[in-house]
Amino acid sequence: MPDRKDIHYFGAGPAPLPTEVLEEASKVLLNYEKKGIGITEISHRSPEANAILASTKSALRTLLSIPDSDGPDGYEILFLQGGGSGEFSATVYHMVSIWVAKQWKHIQNHSHIGVGEDVAIAALRDVVEEKMKLDYLVTGSWSLKASQEAARLVGEEKVNIVADARKHREGGKFGVVPAEDTFTATTDEADCAMTYYCDNETVDGVEFQAPPSGHNLVADMSSNFLSRPIDVKRHAAIFGGAQKNIGTTGVTLAIISKKFLPPHAEMADSKLLRKLGLPVGPVVLDWPTIAKNNSLYNTLPIFDVWIAGQVMERLISLHSDASSAIKGQEDESDKKAGMLYGALDGYPEIYSVVPDMSVRSRMNICVRVKGGHAEAEKAFLKGAEAKGLMGLKGHRSVGGVRISNYNAVPVAAAEKLTAYLEEFAKEQK
Ligand SMILES: Cc1ncc(COP(=O)(O)O)c(C=O)c1O
Repeated sequence: MPDRKDIHYFGAGPAPLPTEVLEEASKVLLNYEKKGIGITEISHRSPEANAILASTKSALRTLLSIPDSDGPDGYEILFLQGGGSGEFSATVYHMVSIWVAKQWKHIQNHSHIGVGEDVAIAALRDVVEEKMKLDYLVTGSWSLKASQEAARLVGEEKVNIVADARKHREGGKFGVVPAEDTFTATTDEADCAMTYYCDNETVDGVEFQAPPSGHNLVADMSSNFLSRPIDVKRHAAIFGGAQKNIGTTGVTLAIISKKFLPPHAEMADSKLLRKLGLPVGPVVLDWPTIAKNNSLYNTLPIFDVWIAGQVMERLISLHSDASSAIKGQEDESDKKAGMLYGALDGYPEIYSVVPDMSVRSRMNICVRVKGGHAEAEKAFLKGAEAKGLMGLKGHRSVGGVRISNYNAVPVAAAEKLTAYLEEFAKEQK
């Protein structure tokens, strides 16, 4: 039976966690803070759970310099369930509700006295039909899925694909971020409920080098959260599942601008949305409800929050001061990715990196071996497994090899894989 230390795992998520955190986790599962009861057995409303929630939020705030203010410039941190996919829907429910509330207010303020509610609602329905748009940057499989969820919820005609990266590349596959001057954003910003993008496309290995332009920017950072500093203030909302860089599967983190939450923003109520034929989301995905209840509207998996907190506090403790921790992590991610891409680029007759050089992900390195030769890829994976280098198979939809280089993948693991990449390539010559 292999030991944990003999295996290096490069899976795309769930992904490795720091061994020290898991060792501590195995203890707290049995007995949390000498209380004689395990962490998964205590109430999510207990003082212990509240302390875990508070310290995890505080660590995230510190790491990402998330503005903390009660005013509209502050950002709320939420813990939710439903994964990244749940947030594909939550983003739509929320941003549509805000957009509709704004239009409703405008119509009410400009209606002549005596105009009945039915007339005003008919006017609002016309505005929704004619104007409301959700802008999506489709740069890979996950942003495509998010845009499809938006179309399912509010109708295809309201989803504006600002860019479809497949149309900007020979062969029609993902692998670029189109230039901004080709974007077809909704012309009038006032009509755009949100601009959505996926910062790192896990399946296709495409990562934005900087946030794109866009009105009411919403980002999926599921697969590169905590791997580099984020310009939080540019965003209306940022979300990500924990199971890659942050912790265990089961908790989703969201950072929401208070400009987009009550009392600074009004939401359309469910009756109004129903009258307009727009969807009313489940309450467990409703950001204002979760925010109002300090993420404890329903039973929150506190153990998952604890793991995330431990991972963040460890990251802080590894650096001389909290403010440099994310930069330190970025440097380490760059170093590992640079080493791996360097080895791949050294043998162009054996390896071809799938995305363009300019958008290569530091987190998910997608490669074809001998141009996608099935036997060669099989041999590569078999040889890797024999050395304890696991989880390297590409996503089932695209095949090939994918090296996931998340935060908890040690430099030593990247070095071992780099050596194997070179060894395998030399054997093929
Ligand atoms: C970038 C990205 N977004 C969203 C998701 C979906 O996350 P979940 O499985 O938590 O719903 C994934 C899953 O791998 C992902 O990589």
